[in-house]
Amino acid sequence: MILFRTIAEMREHIALARGHRLTIGLVPTMGALHEGHGALMRRAREETGYVVVTIFVNPTQFNRPDDFEKYPRDLATDLAFCERLGVDAVFSPDAKEMYPAGLHQETPVASVEVAGVSSRLEGEFRPGHFRGVATVVAKLFNIVPADRAYFGEKDAQQLAVIQKMVTDLNFPVTIVPVPTVREPDGLAMSSRNQRLTPDQRRIAPALYKALCEAAKSIRGGDDTASATRAGLRALAAMPEIRVEYLEVVDPATFQPIAQDDQNIGDVRIVAAVWLGDVRLIDNLPVSIR
Ligand code: PAF
Repeated sequence: MILFRTIAEMREHIALARGHRLTIGLVPTMGALHEGHGALMRRAREETGYVVVTIFVNPTQFNRPDDFEKYPRDLATDLAFCERLGVDAVFSPDAKEMYPAGLHQETPVASVEVAGVSSRLEGEFRPGHFRGVATVVAKLFNIVPADRAYFGEKDAQQLAVIQKMVTDLNFPVTIVPVPTVREPDGLAMSSRNQRLTPDQRRIAPALYKALCEAAKSIRGGDDTASATRAGLRALAAMPEIRVEYLEVVDPATFQPIAQDDQNIGDVRIVAAVWLGDVRLIDNLPVSIR
């Protein structure tokens, strides 16, 4: 496994892999790797000939400076993780390499805005977040021209934003969604889980349980408003949890499903909560046939 720190070296190496007619699989990450990332890497390893993992804590997607500062970073452990999973190359640039002109208001960098799907929920509670994500992912696609790129369904709205960006801007890459990996108690794996205190960690699976309650309600034939209430009721039982949103949405547009819509097929129940100063998101797909 080779570690690249510069765009020029990474590009040169990818050109060599392409010369050997290898298909390229890309797994973009911000490090603090866990089994959720492991699932992305395993899938990339199965499906492509040359696997590149990027590790870059992207400053432009954090709307709160404290969240950016507290984001866990441990490159040595992450590299060992990638090596174990048979990754071929890791691209881990610093911020200067990715944003050489800096990130000052006076010299704004060009950015990618994915209209519509970015506007609600995560987009509303984290202003500018999806512009930062879409921009850095577009840059990574240009630096590592991959055939397939792997993203976790845990960040379902991010996945929808990236899918729309790729479709609308004709990026020649196939986006591969990979199901959420959960702890035995249901908590979705996330780098932010590391920041939970033992008490908060004990309470955190309530988020998944609330999504399950809402899903059960929908499967039982309830409308989306009743399902939402069932999810919120489950969360209200935990006074330590502050809810930002819990909604039933269209999985491609992230628009709410109209309560009287009789033709809904696949929906996603999405939620964001705070436990102390840690923000957790999770979601569940539900098929109504
Ligand atoms: O999901 C993440 O880890 C990040 O948002 C991503 C896609 C690597 C962009 O920085």
